[in-house]
Amino acid sequence: MILGIETSCDETAAAVVTTEGEIVANVVASQADLHARFGGVVPEVASRRHLELVAPVVSEALDAAGGSLSDVETVAVTTHPGLIGALLVGVAAAKSIAWSRRLPLAPVNHLHGHVASLYLKPLDLEPPFVCLLASGGHTMLLEVTERAGFGRRLDGGPGSGGAGSAGAEAGLRVLGTTLDDAAGEAFDKGARLLGLGYPGGPALDALARQGDPGAFDFPVARVPGLDLSFSGVKTALLYAVRELQPEELEARRADLAAGYQRAIVTALVERVRATGADRIAVVGGVAANSGLRAALAGAALAPLALCTDNAAMIASAARYVRAVPYPDYLSLDAQAS
Ligand code: KG4
Ligand code: ZN
Repeated sequence: MILGIETSCDETAAAVVTTEGEIVANVVASQADLHARFGGVVPEVASRRHLELVAPVVSEALDAAGGSLSDVETVAVTTHPGLIGALLVGVAAAKSIAWSRRLPLAPVNHLHGHVASLYLKPLDLEPPFVCLLASGGHTMLLEVTERAGFGRRLDGGPGSGGAGSAGAEAGLRVLGTTLDDAAGEAFDKGARLLGLGYPGGPALDALARQGDPGAFDFPVARVPGLDLSFSGVKTALLYAVRELQPEELEARRADLAAGYQRAIVTALVERVRATGADRIAVVGGVAANSGLRAALAGAALAPLALCTDNAAMIASAARYVRAVPYPDYLSLDAQAS
């Protein structure tokens, strides 16, 4: 059994996964309500909440697995990228648990975790495939040829895509990345403009289903290569909202949401198609979007429960990284990027 721990942003999560990729327990404590009144994640508030939640969440996962720490063979934890204070809580918890039991510790790249959500049963997807990773922090197209873990170079921002770029690792190549906002960030900012609160992606998705996607014509950015950009569509929504009187805005919110979502989904789908790949996978929080799932229905879509942050994907990724033996990991650190 692998015990996974994830605290990189605003979800405190722990999971128990077998070395064969069977999910035995998967517990996620979302802090969304806590951050809602601030309109986004407040890093210091997130760290403190992780500190309160991490031990109970780990206990709950072990209980749900019907086991105890004596059944755990490896502890896995997200070490990067993410909010540094939030990551540190998970890393400290994982080190303590592993050290107390003399277990090895597997440091996991959060992005590898998202990709590894595809390696859990029953999906159990085998590379090669082209993976669209679209979350609140990242949006990239990856060519995945091996399940092997990847290190830190992937986290490079704009420009890390394209030919011969940084971000090349064994078994993996970054084909394209967003030049500005991540897709999830674009959903969240759009939702905020439409008065939908935080986190906005799921709320915008729900509202969009009641609207006409053709009522507004939002721009789909076409930047060179396989990179993406979402700042234009966000600005277009801002202007559209500003031009409407309050009653009119209220009446047309669903149409605005539908048009905005369609522009984001179209941009993502166009880039995926432009790779020419016939084996496509989609992971990350935005993979939960109903419009994107419908548009890429033939692709391997991460199961809904594994799209947004969770620890099962971290435990899954740990199966493909080299674990650090006891007690060498005591000096292991978290990195924000
Ligand atoms: O993967 P994730 O949980 O965290 C990061 O690693 O960033 O992704 C969270 C992002 C948020 O921006 C959230 O609004 C977005 O995923 N999201 C959605 C949906 N569900 C979550 N965006 C659009 N439609 C959804 N149904
Ligand atoms: Zn994530």
